[in-house]
Amino acid sequence: MKKNADWWRQAAIYQIYPRSFKDSNGDGLGDIKGITSKVDYLQSLSLDAVWLSPFYPSALADGGYDVADYRNVDPRLGTLKDFDKMLKALHKADISVFVDIVPNHSSDQHLWFQEALKSEPGSAARNRYIFRDGRGKHGEIPPSDEISHFAPSAWTRTTNSDGTLGQWYMHLFAPEQPDFNWDNREVQLDFIKTLRFWADRGVDGFRIDVAHALKKDFKRLHIAKKSMSGFEIAQDGSDILFDRNEVHEIYREWRKVFDEYDPPRVAVAEAYVHAKRRMLYARPDELGQAFNFDLLGADFDARLFKKIISDNIRLAQSEGSSSTWVLDNHDRVRHATRYGLPKKTDLIQWLLSDGKSAKLDKELGLARANAATLMLLALPGCTYMYQGEELGLFEVEDIAHDDLQDPQWLRNVVPQMVKGKISGLALIHTDKGRDGCRVPLPWQARTASFGFGREKSHLPQPKWFAEHAVDTQDKVNDSNLSLYRRALALRKKYQSGEELEWISTGNPEVLHFKRPNGWHCVTSFNSKSFALPAGEILISSAPIKGGKIKANTTVWLKA
Ligand code: GLC
Repeated sequence: MKKNADWWRQAAIYQIYPRSFKDSNGDGLGDIKGITSKVDYLQSLSLDAVWLSPFYPSALADGGYDVADYRNVDPRLGTLKDFDKMLKALHKADISVFVDIVPNHSSDQHLWFQEALKSEPGSAARNRYIFRDGRGKHGEIPPSDEISHFAPSAWTRTTNSDGTLGQWYMHLFAPEQPDFNWDNREVQLDFIKTLRFWADRGVDGFRIDVAHALKKDFKRLHIAKKSMSGFEIAQDGSDILFDRNEVHEIYREWRKVFDEYDPPRVAVAEAYVHAKRRMLYARPDELGQAFNFDLLGADFDARLFKKIISDNIRLAQSEGSSSTWVLDNHDRVRHATRYGLPKKTDLIQWLLSDGKSAKLDKELGLARANAATLMLLALPGCTYMYQGEELGLFEVEDIAHDDLQDPQWLRNVVPQMVKGKISGLALIHTDKGRDGCRVPLPWQARTASFGFGREKSHLPQPKWFAEHAVDTQDKVNDSNLSLYRRALALRKKYQSGEELEWISTGNPEVLHFKRPNGWHCVTSFNSKSFALPAGEILISSAPIKGGKIKANTTVWLKA
């Protein structure tokens, strides 16, 4: 059934991290056929769409966000034919599909980059990327002091074919992720070709990776110093590296391409910038929507939630977009864990200590996580969920160092200091990275790799995954999975219009809002006992006794 052009404005979207979703051939990596084999499961969640993180050929220097070929499927994950079959099966289940577009950088294995390395300085091949001569007498100092997100410097020096040292190239992320030169028309046109390639196959939407970084001020590049410090970026579009005003020309051109399709293709920007600037990417003549990440860093706190919700609805409306809600994704510590740790826990330190620096209260974390999810699902706009949250998964905090894959772990190292001096070759890791939320899903409690594949999964799964496995929760009335299924089915029935009215509860710890169709949502953050208003109870994230709810609970009512 063809969807109307506005279908995406109020959608429930589920992020699949393909390498960790379901492995169909037993090689330890999730794959496309694995996704196809789970369409029934996805359908049981009443989703409007799934978003697939990169499944393209990649050397996996950054979990696939280092793309070697934008118009193909990684042979370890399948073929284009498998992709088409998956797309057909998902569409048949009325689930739209977003793919991830990674335009800021490619993999160093991309043909263009390999060609650039073999070409002369100043050549057309080098001009697709950002090559510069080094500073210093022999070019031994990087062209600027810019820091990358993963490695100490955002510049890596090349070696010429005769073994001498050559120019440097820029990478905001790992050295295996060279940044494109977006002033180059060939680069611009190639991405339009990629968008059409997937849109022609029937892909419905695109998630745009680091959408704010594409344009750089080449005249001032030599003085660039910053790393990815999203919120410190100048708010007038004048930053050297991020959120420059010219970046919007790219998306205006993309929108024209999206609108050639029926229904128009949709897109969402990943742009770590100030909220007001973020909405520029969501304008109707650009990408249409932008991720709101405000809740990823917020405590489970009534005042904060109310402010974030009100601000984001207002902001989205001001640009003719609809708001987005995100509690989890493949880059962040899972929300059931965040909410179960003492306030102000430094998550980086907690992970580095393998979860020993503070005690995780799993019961509390999950209760809050479900209360927050239910609240978000009742809001106007799109809720983006991340695979595994429906199973109540926590972050896997104690992955052994040898098993870690994320460049955020591998590359964030400093030399060990003893009495102010660098000691030997010992390096200290300063960030454990994001592998803990990317551990392959548990499908069955009692089989090898919990039914993910056959024997081993590419990241080790902890024993406690058994309690969370799909077959442990399936058909169990009060399981986490059943809660998600019921909530998403109800959401499909009730979601309409974009109006939201706050209703006073007389208690600062309890939020209550009303949506069209008599749909009410009441969340008790920290009130021991709150008497529910009159109405039929549709669903509740925790048991209700005598018409009263406890703290950390959300209830939907029909009144
Ligand atoms: C985005 C992705 C992240 C990746 C980075 C570089 O932030 O979500 O996983 O490492 O871009 O592509």
